[in-house]
Amino acid sequence: MSSFVKDLFLTKSFAVLRQDANASAMRRTLTAKDVILIGVGDIIGAGIFVITGKAAALYAGPAIVLSFVISGIACVFAGLAYSEMAALGTLPISGSAYTYTYATMGEVLAFIIGWDLCLEYLAGAASVAVGWSAYLISFAKYLGADIPNKLVSAPVAYHSDKGFFVDESCGVINLPAFLIVLALTVVLCVGIKQSAWVNHMFVGIKLVVILMFLFATFGSINPDNWSPFIPEPHNGHSYGFSGVLRASTLVFFAYIGFDAVSTCAQEVKRPARDMPIGILGSLGVCTVLYILVSLNLTGIAHYETLNSAAPLADAVKNLGMGWLKIAVSVGGISGLTSVMLVSLMAQARVFSAMAADGLLPASLGKIHPRFGTPLVPTIISGVTCAFASAFLPLDVLGDMTSAGTLFAFTLVSISVGVLRFTQPELERPFKVPGGPILVPFLGAACAITLIVTTGWSTVLRLVIWMAVGLVVYGGYGYRHSRLRNGRGIPLDDKSGVELSQTALVEEKGHEHAS
Ligand code: ALA
Repeated sequence: MSSFVKDLFLTKSFAVLRQDANASAMRRTLTAKDVILIGVGDIIGAGIFVITGKAAALYAGPAIVLSFVISGIACVFAGLAYSEMAALGTLPISGSAYTYTYATMGEVLAFIIGWDLCLEYLAGAASVAVGWSAYLISFAKYLGADIPNKLVSAPVAYHSDKGFFVDESCGVINLPAFLIVLALTVVLCVGIKQSAWVNHMFVGIKLVVILMFLFATFGSINPDNWSPFIPEPHNGHSYGFSGVLRASTLVFFAYIGFDAVSTCAQEVKRPARDMPIGILGSLGVCTVLYILVSLNLTGIAHYETLNSAAPLADAVKNLGMGWLKIAVSVGGISGLTSVMLVSLMAQARVFSAMAADGLLPASLGKIHPRFGTPLVPTIISGVTCAFASAFLPLDVLGDMTSAGTLFAFTLVSISVGVLRFTQPELERPFKVPGGPILVPFLGAACAITLIVTTGWSTVLRLVIWMAVGLVVYGGYGYRHSRLRNGRGIPLDDKSGVELSQTALVEEKGHEHAS
């Protein structure tokens, strides 16, 4: 093998990862229950509050429940792979997909996955911002305020059959989405302590509201609304089983976030036991909540009425439960805020981690001396995301988020299988069941299938994003890689190991400890 190709696939040794982790100031304070709650906080957002309604109305009908089950099963395979990685031996590493890939499949693939995570977090935060805007507007309308459509809608719309188009639903800019992203960027720039506090409060509110929705609407379910369960094609929509599958790629968005739980590994008291419980537990809790919410939603309202920007809030309003509409709107707004906050923070930390490894310019890894936050990457991520949320439709952003995440699932699943063969001696307290091939294969196969069903245009956008990434790697990362240049990893720069919501968790951990 030529040295060029060898260099591309250099792996970061677990010894170096361990050194990085030892240099980190993070404490082990979190229990399995904490990890489950963090996961639930990360996961529940626009997927259930916004996308469910459209997916039921246009594709699956009441069988949206099946779509949630199908997506949930695909996530379980990936969740098992993430669990094996996150629990690996006594490795005190924070386990982002980027770190795993660097340790197992080599630098160029790690770069690709890091670049892909940027897409997941940026498009994810932008999609949630659009959903947030929809909930705010629905709430404002209910209170009697009339916000002109041109200030709350992207200038273009999108449909998988028609592509981009302009119609009367289009506006000039989605101003609330733009402003909330900029506001959260300021919070993240100023300090993580404030961010942690804001996040915990919002997570609590959204959980209470989901439970209120379930209990309050249970008595209003009309079983006639569930029949036919899988509608036949009509009104120009295909429905049927293909509709259920298409809806499962849409509602896959609702599960995104459980992978971010793996980044807490360094702060968990007993990672070998608590990480698998945390990852699979949060996935389990959300799957149950999603199934119940979608059953209730399609039971209290006919599926054809659910294609609205705030389907849960509108459905309870139509039942005459004005008080619940207010609660659901507040819950939606809070829940979506917490997901945006975590995504934006995670995005900045992916940049920092890649910069610490020399794969992106060093300025992206610098911690601001006064605020103690990665200011430059936070501002770059926030401004990019604000513009995306202001000018792109939710469908495009949601599909790009799902495709980016599924690509990460594919590589992590493959990494688990590869690592079993290349480093069989590593202590593995948690192993995916069925040997080294079955679950990694199923995880990668499900993820690839779901990517393909998002449509060729999404796949093309994913390929273009990756091609841009490879140009950046070729033009900068390859030449400046610390690993390739034999300079190891800067142990004095802790940003290199802090990914995703680790910093939030650290803050939470300190609170627990004190
Ligand atoms: N799972 C997250 C949401 O639904 C991304 O908003």
